[in-house]
Amino acid sequence: MNISVQNNEQKNNAEILIVGLTRHPENTKGWDGFAERFEGKLQDWVKNELSFDKKNIITYPALAGDIPRIMFIGMDDRKKMNEDDVRAAFGLAGKELVKKKIKNAAIYLDSFQNEDITAEDAAYLAAEGIGMGMYSFADYKTSSNEVEVELETLSLLTEENAEDIEAAARIGQVFGESVNEARTLVNMPGNILTATALADYAQELGEQYGFEIDILDKAQMEELGMGAILAVNQGSVEEPRLIVMKYKATESFEDPLALVGKGITFDTGGYSLKPKDGIVGMKGDMGGAAAVLGAMKIIGELKPDKNVIAVIASTDNMVSGNAFKPDDVITSLSGKTIEILNTDAEGRLVLADSVTYAKQMGATRIIDVATLTGGVIVALGMDKTGALTNDEAFFEEFLEASNETGEFVWRLPLTENDKKRLRKSDVADLNNSPGRDGHMIFGGGFVGEFVEDTPWIHLDIAGTSFTSAAHDFGPKGGTGAMVRTLAMMVESLADGK
Ligand code: BES
Ligand code: ZN
Ligand code: ZN
Repeated sequence: MNISVQNNEQKNNAEILIVGLTRHPENTKGWDGFAERFEGKLQDWVKNELSFDKKNIITYPALAGDIPRIMFIGMDDRKKMNEDDVRAAFGLAGKELVKKKIKNAAIYLDSFQNEDITAEDAAYLAAEGIGMGMYSFADYKTSSNEVEVELETLSLLTEENAEDIEAAARIGQVFGESVNEARTLVNMPGNILTATALADYAQELGEQYGFEIDILDKAQMEELGMGAILAVNQGSVEEPRLIVMKYKATESFEDPLALVGKGITFDTGGYSLKPKDGIVGMKGDMGGAAAVLGAMKIIGELKPDKNVIAVIASTDNMVSGNAFKPDDVITSLSGKTIEILNTDAEGRLVLADSVTYAKQMGATRIIDVATLTGGVIVALGMDKTGALTNDEAFFEEFLEASNETGEFVWRLPLTENDKKRLRKSDVADLNNSPGRDGHMIFGGGFVGEFVEDTPWIHLDIAGTSFTSAAHDFGPKGGTGAMVRTLAMMVESLADGK
């Protein structure tokens, strides 16, 4: 998608012009810029046919000007319009562009602005929303008559400084594209996206952006004593991988933030086998890994002034004569021993070794992201990411980043009593499943036992990383949850330096 900035009077080859239809247009330049495309008839149409209702989309042929069609999106009260509304409107517009097989579109940017939303904001939201909205997964069907639609040009009509607008739109574009790549990883089945394949993808990404990259295989893990990830991998014919990447903003690499992702390419539950209804969809149990890789893509593109380490532990969780089993006691990379009570609580095990590894690399802050527990879905539903933290200020900053991206995050408590229950075992330092009451807290809390005092945020995306219904920003399937917020947080930490 090639984004350009033009003014409203310039000749334009777009097939369609996207316009936000708001009440109270008087506090901006309002409708003047496009009303002339309707030879004065717009007011009548607005009265009789057009709707201001949010998410209402209707396309009319234009009566004048060189853009033949206008796509109106209802935005309701202009004064109350917020960034989430605008992003959602562009998500829907993106879907509509695909339906109409549009290759060249234009946006009347002013119609998505108000006192809070600048032309730059609107440009960023437009590129991001349309980019996400146009996403589809290239499936494996042998007979498909769907033609892939890609937007070739997007022109932003505005009187503002073209360079600033283009820069803002480019950020949105990068954010949207990176979300879409994470979605594709989540949508890929476990027989194709194995740990090795995921590592190959990461290798390519790393090479593209000049990251330092290190991929540990099983033999290297054995040598280091990564007993937790190895236990999860024990039942598999596939090799595990630990994917490690460094984005160096400075040569000295001081104060790096670690992004740690759960990369379980398929979770059967192991001997604590999932029931047949709960096992379908477990190809998506690498959503945390996808979020980290998506964020790293944004970081590679935008090059923030902040050192970042990515650590992703990847394997599937299978059943076989070799598989680990309940009652087993394993020794993690940290040296801490773990009594296995439930082999389906495997995510926290691979994360344990990953955060230890990140700490050994010098991480001074850690964010882990994982499809960790069904408990988060029970607690918060499918549209909120659950969080834990050991650092108030760090989490405050993260919440601000999530407000900017519109990804809802809600923190749960982690108390001394919860920790006591994690440390309760007759035979080991920790147990991996203290109970089903409030078990999102135990999942994340277990990871916290390995993080210790390093400032840390845990994100449970079991609800948000995958959806079974189409939504404003795309189809059902992988959502790319937390890709944008992780990247926004890195930007925020870079600004704060
Ligand atoms: N991968 C699952 C969590 C999950 C559930 C992700 C639903 C996406 C949708 C995780 O490994 C798991 O099985 N967790 C157990 C934890 C339990 C054994 C304490 C769960 O949620 O039941
Ligand atoms: Zn599991
Ligand atoms: Zn899992």
